[in-house]
Amino acid sequence: MTRGADIWLPPRGTVICPATAIEPEETRGFVLSDPHSANQLDLIIWHTPGGFRGFVNKCPHLGLPLETFPDRFLNALGDALICSAHGALFDATGRCLAGPCKGDALIPLELALHARQGARASTGQNALADKDIVLIGRLAHS
Ligand code: FES
Repeated sequence: MTRGADIWLPPRGTVICPATAIEPEETRGFVLSDPHSANQLDLIIWHTPGGFRGFVNKCPHLGLPLETFPDRFLNALGDALICSAHGALFDATGRCLAGPCKGDALIPLELALHARQGARASTGQNALADKDIVLIGRLAHS
């Protein structure tokens, strides 16, 4: 199975969305497009208790996107990503815990939080209010 060597990545630091656009313990899907070609990156962001996690939205089983319904990537317990095609479950590192691709993994993406241009520093509950989630690049599996 391909490990995604052919995936296209936008430039480092590309803004994906405001950090407040994804509620804690929720997921959202995004498609980033290259304005100069037909290249696209379909990705998932999961707002875990440990921070934002990003993955290429491509199941290692058959290469399909995980979701049937927009932004719905979590299992019923909300503790794993689930592929709607054949039920593979993935933890917050992207490892497949169960299903037809057990032991394989989603391609993890490195994300960062950057202060929005011109925003003043915020703290506490609003620590995410003036920040954007940006894509840094692809992460190696640990
Ligand atoms: S395509 Fe994801 S489990 Fe089969």
